[in-house]
Amino acid sequence: MANKEVGITEVVLRDGNQSLLSTRLKLEDIIPIASKLDEVGYSSIESWGGAIFDSCVRYLNEDPWERLRELKKAMPKTQQQMLLRGQNLVGYKHYSDEVVSKFIEQSAMNGIDIFRVFDALNDLRNIEQSVKAIHDNEKHAQGTLAYTISPIHTLDTWIDLAKQIEDLGCDSLCIKDMSGILSPEYAFDLISELKKIIQIPIHLHTHATTGMSNLTNMRAIEAGVDNIDTSISSMSMGYGHSPTETMIYLMNEKQINSNIDLKDLIPIAEYFDCIREKYKEFEGSMKGVDLKMLINQVPGGMLSNLETQLKALNKEKLLNEVVSEIYEVRKDLGFVPLVTPASQIIGAQALSNIINNKYETLSLEIVDLVLGYYGRLPGEINKDLLDKALLNKESITQRPANLINEKFDSYKNDLKRYCKKLKIKDLSSNDDHILTFILIPYGSEKIFKSLNS
Ligand code: CO
Repeated sequence: MANKEVGITEVVLRDGNQSLLSTRLKLEDIIPIASKLDEVGYSSIESWGGAIFDSCVRYLNEDPWERLRELKKAMPKTQQQMLLRGQNLVGYKHYSDEVVSKFIEQSAMNGIDIFRVFDALNDLRNIEQSVKAIHDNEKHAQGTLAYTISPIHTLDTWIDLAKQIEDLGCDSLCIKDMSGILSPEYAFDLISELKKIIQIPIHLHTHATTGMSNLTNMRAIEAGVDNIDTSISSMSMGYGHSPTETMIYLMNEKQINSNIDLKDLIPIAEYFDCIREKYKEFEGSMKGVDLKMLINQVPGGMLSNLETQLKALNKEKLLNEVVSEIYEVRKDLGFVPLVTPASQIIGAQALSNIINNKYETLSLEIVDLVLGYYGRLPGEINKDLLDKALLNKESITQRPANLINEKFDSYKNDLKRYCKKLKIKDLSSNDDHILTFILIPYGSEKIFKSLNS
């Protein structure tokens, strides 16, 4: 049954930016609109995490921590939300429990209120430590189902997982549909069932890629969802999300309160209209709706990255072939959901399978994925692929982070040496900078140099 009130999380600064503008939006283009965003009455604003950290350091020459502090300062009334990849933090591999705790402590201290935590494999052992650390810092831990469609993923799979997320102590649940493949009727059934079984609030995150998201969000609301994610109209749809204004209009018609006045959104939409024009070189080529996603389940961000990669290799023609191969590789990996970092690993392998012979070369990452170093795969692994991977090393069944013992302090010395090598002043007394160094060891030279000037 529909709630009388449904919260709206505005995602334009993180996922809207990531899905439509390849995460290139600069802080200086956010600050002028921040106070208006802060006045709207969103339940939260997703402003950090995901690919933002990486993009700040590699492309924008911004200190990601400084960005977070500035965002918090500019939007003090609204809860700031981040996307965290569990034990992978905002990186692409597992970090030790100590590094995970430190990262979360600093994120909380610098301004994050709500942590949406997911694991690409839906292996909850990979989010345990994050949830614990979030609670140690008295912040909101939102556990996540990374939604996918496959012959082995049933309604019961999701309900079991949601129950486990609640049992883990998460404060809310997110259904994360990164590819826009959650259909309206499935969303209705899933949320209706979940509402009978779990007590914590349910949030829906869906993408517009296949054109279903407005209806999916509405059916989710009818089933009793507590919060939906939207993006301001001028930065919506395509690989992105349902427009904030459209969803509020539809909710108003059903007397469902969002605590938001549509009129307050007009100047924000106009502002981002200009921003989108300014950043158009970073947009993917897909316009409108792409139904292929319902067959291949390739998320928006992954497709636009793939396009860019193929363009660089002068092989744009291979796009459809690579997309089909992504499905095959995914099947061979027990139908793992296509989300970071699995999506990157699978994307790269699919590309390699098309350019070279199938599984002729295996990346270190895919070997680790096959052998359990990222966590438990949902289904059965292709035997040939497994045998090939086993030529490299042995497989594991325990929680992967049990094998990782890196001490946070040991990086202090590494960073000290690195600063010496760069001939810049020592940055190793600052925990934020140590974390940047841990997460992006080879890409951090430019940012560290600019921090010194
Ligand atoms: Co998303």
